[in-house]
Amino acid sequence: MRKLYIAGNWKMNKTPSEAASFAKELAEKASDAKVKVMIAPTFVCLPDVVKAVKGTNVIVAAQNVNDHKSGAYTGEVSADMLKDIGVNTVILGHSERRQYYGETDEFINAKVLFALESGMDIVLCVGETLEERESGALEDVLKRQVSVGLSGVSAENMKKITIAYEPVWAIGTGKTATPADAEASHAFIRGVVKDIYGSDVAENTIIQYGGSVKPANVKELMAQPDIDGALVGGASLTLEQFLPIIHCVD
Ligand code: PGA
Repeated sequence: MRKLYIAGNWKMNKTPSEAASFAKELAEKASDAKVKVMIAPTFVCLPDVVKAVKGTNVIVAAQNVNDHKSGAYTGEVSADMLKDIGVNTVILGHSERRQYYGETDEFINAKVLFALESGMDIVLCVGETLEERESGALEDVLKRQVSVGLSGVSAENMKKITIAYEPVWAIGTGKTATPADAEASHAFIRGVVKDIYGSDVAENTIIQYGGSVKPANVKELMAQPDIDGALVGGASLTLEQFLPIIHCVD
Protein backbone atom coordinates (compact mmCIF):
# COMPACT_ATOMS: atom_id res chain seq x y z
CA MET A 1 0.00 0.00 0.00
CA ARG A 2 1.54 3.31 -1.06
CA LYS A 3 1.20 6.16 1.46
CA LEU A 4 0.11 9.50 -0.04
CA TYR A 5 2.93 12.04 -0.24
CA ILE A 6 1.91 15.71 -0.38
CA ALA A 7 4.67 18.23 -1.10
CA GLY A 8 4.68 22.01 -1.28
CA ASN A 9 7.11 23.57 -3.74
CA TRP A 10 7.38 27.18 -2.64
CA LYS A 11 9.53 28.17 -5.64
CA MET A 12 10.95 31.72 -5.23
CA ASN A 13 8.48 32.82 -2.58
CA LYS A 14 8.63 33.75 1.14
CA THR A 15 11.49 35.40 3.04
CA PRO A 16 13.28 33.34 5.73
CA SER A 17 11.17 34.83 8.54
CA GLU A 18 7.90 34.35 6.64
CA ALA A 19 8.91 30.82 5.73
CA ALA A 20 9.83 29.88 9.32
CA SER A 21 6.61 31.15 10.89
CA PHE A 22 4.51 29.53 8.15
CA ALA A 23 6.36 26.22 8.57
CA LYS A 24 5.89 26.26 12.36
CA GLU A 25 2.13 26.77 12.07
CA LEU A 26 1.87 24.22 9.28
CA ALA A 27 3.71 21.60 11.34
CA GLU A 28 1.35 22.18 14.30
CA LYS A 29 -1.76 21.92 12.15
CA ALA A 30 -0.48 18.96 10.13
CA SER A 31 0.65 16.92 13.13
CA ASP A 32 -2.25 14.49 12.69
CA ALA A 33 -1.90 14.22 8.90
CA LYS A 34 -2.41 10.78 7.44
CA VAL A 35 -0.13 11.64 4.52
CA LYS A 36 3.61 12.23 4.27
CA VAL A 37 4.14 16.03 4.21
CA MET A 38 7.04 17.92 2.65
CA ILE A 39 7.81 21.59 2.00
CA ALA A 40 10.52 22.94 -0.28
CA PRO A 41 11.56 26.53 0.53
CA THR A 42 14.40 28.42 -1.16
CA PHE A 43 17.99 27.75 -0.07
CA VAL A 44 18.23 30.82 2.18
CA CYS A 45 15.07 29.80 4.05
CA LEU A 46 16.18 26.22 4.69
CA PRO A 47 18.10 26.63 8.01
CA ASP A 48 15.23 28.56 9.67
CA VAL A 49 12.57 26.22 8.30
CA VAL A 50 14.47 23.13 9.46
CA LYS A 51 14.59 24.62 12.98
CA ALA A 52 10.91 25.58 12.84
CA VAL A 53 9.73 22.03 12.08
CA LYS A 54 12.29 20.12 14.15
CA GLY A 55 10.70 17.11 15.87
CA THR A 56 7.54 17.22 13.70
CA ASN A 57 6.45 15.03 10.80
CA VAL A 58 7.15 17.73 8.17
CA ILE A 59 10.02 16.97 5.79
CA VAL A 60 12.06 19.89 4.46
CA ALA A 61 13.46 19.66 0.93
CA ALA A 62 15.65 21.79 -1.31
CA GLN A 63 14.50 22.82 -4.78
CA ASN A 64 17.82 21.97 -6.43
CA VAL A 65 21.34 20.72 -5.75
CA ASN A 66 24.64 20.73 -7.63
CA ASP A 67 26.06 17.58 -9.21
CA HIS A 68 29.55 17.98 -7.70
CA LYS A 69 30.86 17.45 -4.19
CA SER A 70 32.46 20.90 -3.85
CA GLY A 71 34.63 23.31 -5.78
CA ALA A 72 34.57 26.28 -8.13
CA TYR A 73 30.85 26.38 -8.98
CA THR A 74 29.81 29.95 -8.26
CA GLY A 75 26.26 30.34 -7.03
CA GLU A 76 25.74 26.63 -6.40
CA VAL A 77 24.85 24.58 -3.31
CA SER A 78 26.13 21.07 -2.58
CA ALA A 79 24.45 18.01 -1.12
CA ASP A 80 26.92 18.02 1.82
CA MET A 81 25.88 21.58 2.69
CA LEU A 82 22.21 20.63 2.63
CA LYS A 83 22.76 17.53 4.72
CA ASP A 84 24.82 19.49 7.23
CA ILE A 85 21.79 21.67 8.01
CA GLY A 86 19.44 18.68 8.13
CA VAL A 87 18.00 18.70 4.60
CA ASN A 88 17.98 15.20 3.10
CA THR A 89 15.47 15.58 0.27
CA VAL A 90 15.70 17.45 -3.02
CA ILE A 91 13.37 18.22 -5.93
CA LEU A 92 15.15 17.67 -9.27
CA GLY A 93 14.14 18.24 -12.87
CA HIS A 94 11.31 20.68 -12.24
CA SER A 95 9.98 22.01 -15.54
CA GLU A 96 10.97 25.57 -14.56
CA ARG A 97 14.58 24.38 -14.22
CA ARG A 98 14.31 22.62 -17.58
CA GLN A 99 12.61 25.60 -19.27
CA TYR A 100 14.41 28.64 -17.82
CA TYR A 101 17.81 27.18 -16.88
CA GLY A 102 18.34 24.76 -19.74
CA GLU A 103 18.47 21.58 -17.63
CA THR A 104 18.53 18.51 -19.85
CA ASP A 105 17.57 14.95 -18.95
CA GLU A 106 21.27 14.02 -18.90
CA PHE A 107 22.15 16.87 -16.54
CA ILE A 108 19.22 16.02 -14.29
CA ASN A 109 20.37 12.40 -14.28
CA ALA A 110 23.86 13.49 -13.16
CA LYS A 111 22.25 15.35 -10.24
CA VAL A 112 20.04 12.35 -9.41
CA LEU A 113 23.05 10.05 -9.26
CA PHE A 114 25.10 12.49 -7.21
CA ALA A 115 22.25 13.20 -4.77
CA LEU A 116 21.75 9.45 -4.29
CA GLU A 117 25.44 8.94 -3.71
CA SER A 118 25.16 11.64 -1.05
CA GLY A 119 22.32 9.72 0.59
CA MET A 120 19.50 12.08 -0.34
CA ASP A 121 15.87 11.34 -1.18
CA ILE A 122 14.70 12.74 -4.49
CA VAL A 123 11.50 13.98 -6.09
CA LEU A 124 12.16 13.67 -9.83
CA CYS A 125 9.80 15.82 -11.91
CA VAL A 126 8.70 14.87 -15.41
CA GLY A 127 5.97 16.15 -17.68
CA GLU A 128 5.13 17.20 -21.22
CA THR A 129 4.51 20.64 -22.72
CA LEU A 130 1.19 21.38 -24.44
CA GLU A 131 2.93 21.26 -27.81
CA GLU A 132 4.35 17.80 -27.05
CA ARG A 133 0.94 16.55 -25.91
CA GLU A 134 -0.85 17.96 -28.95
CA SER A 135 1.68 16.53 -31.36
CA GLY A 136 1.16 13.03 -29.94
CA ALA A 137 4.58 12.86 -28.27
CA LEU A 138 3.29 12.49 -24.69
CA GLU A 139 4.41 8.91 -24.12
CA ASP A 140 7.77 9.36 -25.87
CA VAL A 141 8.54 12.40 -23.73
CA LEU A 142 7.55 10.72 -20.46
CA LYS A 143 9.46 7.58 -21.33
CA ARG A 144 12.59 9.56 -22.17
CA GLN A 145 12.40 11.79 -19.08
CA VAL A 146 11.86 8.81 -16.76
CA SER A 147 14.37 6.44 -18.30
CA VAL A 148 17.17 8.99 -18.82
CA GLY A 149 16.47 10.66 -15.46
CA LEU A 150 16.81 7.30 -13.70
CA SER A 151 19.66 5.94 -15.80
CA GLY A 152 22.16 4.16 -13.52
CA VAL A 153 19.82 4.19 -10.49
CA SER A 154 19.72 0.77 -8.81
CA ALA A 155 16.49 -1.01 -7.87
CA GLU A 156 17.52 -0.61 -4.23
CA ASN A 157 17.88 3.16 -4.64
CA MET A 158 14.40 3.42 -6.18
CA LYS A 159 13.18 3.46 -2.55
CA LYS A 160 14.69 6.94 -2.38
CA ILE A 161 13.01 8.18 -5.54
CA THR A 162 9.57 9.76 -5.85
CA ILE A 163 8.42 10.68 -9.35
CA ALA A 164 6.28 13.80 -9.82
CA TYR A 165 4.21 13.93 -13.02
CA GLU A 166 3.60 17.58 -13.81
CA PRO A 167 2.16 18.44 -17.23
CA VAL A 168 3.88 21.76 -17.97
CA TRP A 169 0.68 23.30 -19.36
CA ALA A 170 -1.04 22.73 -16.00
CA ILE A 171 1.60 24.41 -13.82
CA GLY A 172 0.49 27.74 -12.41
CA THR A 173 -2.17 28.10 -15.10
CA GLY A 174 -5.26 26.99 -13.21
CA LYS A 175 -5.65 24.21 -15.81
CA THR A 176 -5.54 20.77 -14.25
CA ALA A 177 -5.27 17.57 -16.21
CA THR A 178 -8.58 15.74 -15.86
CA PRO A 179 -8.28 12.95 -13.30
CA ALA A 180 -8.57 10.46 -16.16
CA ASP A 181 -5.79 12.11 -18.21
CA ALA A 182 -3.56 12.35 -15.16
CA GLU A 183 -4.24 8.72 -14.27
CA ALA A 184 -3.36 7.63 -17.83
CA SER A 185 0.03 9.36 -17.59
CA HIS A 186 0.67 7.97 -14.10
CA ALA A 187 -0.16 4.44 -15.23
CA PHE A 188 2.13 4.91 -18.22
CA ILE A 189 4.99 6.14 -16.00
CA ARG A 190 4.49 3.19 -13.65
CA GLY A 191 4.73 0.95 -16.70
CA VAL A 192 8.04 2.54 -17.69
CA VAL A 193 9.36 1.94 -14.15
CA LYS A 194 8.10 -1.65 -14.37
CA ASP A 195 9.90 -2.22 -17.68
CA ILE A 196 13.16 -1.05 -16.10
CA TYR A 197 12.89 -2.44 -12.55
CA GLY A 198 10.09 -5.01 -12.49
CA SER A 199 6.71 -4.98 -10.80
CA ASP A 200 7.81 -4.89 -7.16
CA VAL A 201 9.68 -1.62 -7.60
CA ALA A 202 6.93 -0.21 -9.85
CA GLU A 203 4.19 -1.04 -7.32
CA ASN A 204 6.14 0.64 -4.52
CA THR A 205 7.14 3.80 -6.39
CA ILE A 206 5.28 6.92 -5.28
CA ILE A 207 4.11 9.01 -8.25
CA GLN A 208 2.85 12.49 -7.33
CA TYR A 209 0.67 14.65 -9.56
CA GLY A 210 1.48 18.35 -9.93
CA GLY A 211 -0.11 21.23 -11.81
CA SER A 212 -2.75 23.53 -10.28
CA VAL A 213 -3.64 21.13 -7.46
CA LYS A 214 -6.17 22.90 -5.22
CA PRO A 215 -8.47 21.92 -2.33
CA ALA A 216 -11.32 21.65 -4.86
CA ASN A 217 -9.68 19.07 -7.14
CA VAL A 218 -7.31 17.17 -4.85
CA LYS A 219 -9.74 14.48 -3.67
CA GLU A 220 -10.70 13.37 -7.15
CA LEU A 221 -7.07 13.31 -8.26
CA MET A 222 -5.94 11.32 -5.21
CA ALA A 223 -8.74 8.80 -5.76
CA GLN A 224 -7.04 7.62 -8.98
CA PRO A 225 -5.29 4.29 -8.50
CA ASP A 226 -1.85 5.41 -9.77
CA ILE A 227 -1.80 8.89 -8.21
CA ASP A 228 0.01 8.70 -4.87
CA GLY A 229 0.27 12.30 -3.80
CA ALA A 230 0.73 15.83 -5.05
CA LEU A 231 3.47 18.35 -5.73
CA VAL A 232 1.72 21.64 -5.02
CA GLY A 233 3.01 25.06 -6.06
CA GLY A 234 0.69 28.08 -5.66
CA ALA A 235 -1.72 26.40 -3.25
CA SER A 236 1.12 25.43 -0.88
CA LEU A 237 1.80 29.11 -0.11
CA THR A 238 -1.24 29.65 2.12
CA LEU A 239 -2.45 27.53 5.03
CA GLU A 240 -6.06 28.08 3.89
CA GLN A 241 -5.29 26.10 0.76
CA PHE A 242 -2.45 23.79 1.76
CA LEU A 243 -4.03 22.37 4.93
CA PRO A 244 -7.19 21.05 3.21
CA ILE A 245 -4.93 19.45 0.58
CA ILE A 246 -2.88 17.74 3.30
CA HIS A 247 -6.08 16.63 5.01
CA CYS A 248 -7.70 15.42 1.78
CA VAL A 249 -7.93 11.82 3.01
CA ASP A 250 -9.24 12.48 6.55
P1 PGA B 1 1.21 24.88 -9.29
O1 PGA B 1 2.74 24.40 -9.39
O2 PGA B 1 0.55 24.04 -8.23
O3 PGA B 1 1.28 26.32 -8.93
O4 PGA B 1 0.60 24.65 -10.64
C1 PGA B 1 3.08 23.05 -9.29
C2 PGA B 1 4.58 22.88 -9.43
O5 PGA B 1 5.19 23.56 -10.26
O6 PGA B 1 5.20 22.06 -8.72
